[in-house]
Amino acid sequence: MNQDFLIQVGTILDLKYVLTEDADKAPYLTDWRNRFTGRALAVLLPSTSAEVAAIVKLCAGTKTAIVPQGGNTGLCGGATPDQSGKQVILSLKRMKQIREIDVANQTISLEAGCILQTIQEKAAEQGFLFPLSLGAEGSCMIGGNLATNAGGTNVLRYGSTRDLCLGLEVVTANGEIWNGMKGLRKDNTGYDLRDLYVGSEGTLGIITAAVMKLYPLPISQWTTLVATQDISSTIALLNLFQQRATSLLTGFEMMTKESLTLIDKHFPQMANPLKGSPPFTILIELSDHESEDHVKQLLEAILEEALESELITDAVIASNLSQANSFWHMREHITLAQAQEDANLKHDITIPLSSLSRFISETDALIKAKYPGVRIINFGHLGDGNLHYNVAPPEGADFIAFNAANEKPVHELIYGQVELCNGSISAEHGVGQLKIEELRAHKGEVAHELMKSIKKALDPQNILNPHKVLSI
Ligand code: FAD
Ligand code: MLT
Ligand code: ZN
Repeated sequence: MNQDFLIQVGTILDLKYVLTEDADKAPYLTDWRNRFTGRALAVLLPSTSAEVAAIVKLCAGTKTAIVPQGGNTGLCGGATPDQSGKQVILSLKRMKQIREIDVANQTISLEAGCILQTIQEKAAEQGFLFPLSLGAEGSCMIGGNLATNAGGTNVLRYGSTRDLCLGLEVVTANGEIWNGMKGLRKDNTGYDLRDLYVGSEGTLGIITAAVMKLYPLPISQWTTLVATQDISSTIALLNLFQQRATSLLTGFEMMTKESLTLIDKHFPQMANPLKGSPPFTILIELSDHESEDHVKQLLEAILEEALESELITDAVIASNLSQANSFWHMREHITLAQAQEDANLKHDITIPLSSLSRFISETDALIKAKYPGVRIINFGHLGDGNLHYNVAPPEGADFIAFNAANEKPVHELIYGQVELCNGSISAEHGVGQLKIEELRAHKGEVAHELMKSIKKALDPQNILNPHKVLSI
């Protein structure tokens, strides 16, 4: 059967795009965090939607499960196959054409394998901003961003990947191509299929292309780092910026002292320019379409007001682009610093801003009482209520033993708190194979059953990324 399948794939793809040797498959088999390693019958590398459709038809006929993969930067193991060795990985990395930049419509039509940073650069060459921005942008791909509904650092102003998407092209589970490549900002023709596929993590269809929104490039951006003493004043500061800067506020990222301790340790060249390791360091960015002076004066006025009302205790404004970039690098390297430190227990959660203060103080206290010495590495996109609330073992502890013994109860404690605050157990990273049980426990029974019905309707043979998101 395996040989038959591979012979038939050979009629669709040149054999150099059908990887079957262990060494060739290896880079596709383990997730970015090294949490999951699977096996695969083959890694398939199509270059057109028609080839993807032909592969899916073949898989439907042979009941072969497909694991779609983009840049393989996902943090929940969604792009890693299981241990059976019977699944195929479908990598979209050769589908990297930008089909069109429609200047009048302010949209870009592009294939799933386009790397996010390349899209930003191509848009900028035409005077446009493509606002999706995240630490993995040098290797993640737009198909993966859409499949995970990625968030990142600009969500508070431009929304998540879903909000940036106007149209999709998708290969369905029976190998048909749905052409929804319309760059429309209004389209009320029944159920929104696009919204079903965005965020479905490869379980409902293979995204082969998309139409995404573009925005005018700002004339000027100003970036500042400020020190706050507690979370309540940080939220009050966010509200102040929201009131005074309104849509000019494009970034509001929070980093705790413990998060930046890891930066000091692993990337000392990126040290925090704020003196004295404040409890909270906040990275704030304003973007303006009027003038340099306009935004600079506005930023200075807001910071002055914040200092006077004692919401902040210190501030450094980036004096040039390179310093602004260094602020962002410090923020974006926390994930890498954590990966170098040791495996930690990650929680990518959202809490309504009104409950955030309570969540942090109560959860910190519970965790510290139950697990003395643990380090709470809490940072995130505070502007949209998204915390990366990670728990690392005590310094010097055997992290493998710690995580094995405590992973489940730590998750349960934190997700219980999230539920009490009406939050979400996955803000932007998705579910993949990591959070299937948590999703079942926290999504609510009715919603979970509806999700299963959708999966069964769109993928009745269960060949698209089985056992991801849902346990089926
Ligand atoms: P992959 O990892 O390859 O796949 C992710 C999921 O999508 C899998 O389930 C896969 O099967 C599915 N998939 C991929 N392509 C397709 C397709 N064409 N059709 C259907 N399904 C598909 N995420 C955020 O949201 N915000 C952040 O700020 C952020 N920062 C990060 C920083 C670092 C350093 C790292 C390593 C990751 C970060 N991530 C972040 C997570 C990750 O980058 C995003 O989830 C990203 O969107 C994944 O894209 P990818 O191309 O790597 O997808
Ligand atoms: C981030 O905001 O840096 C990412 O979501 C990655 C992470 O949570 O580690
Ligand atoms: Zn994030």
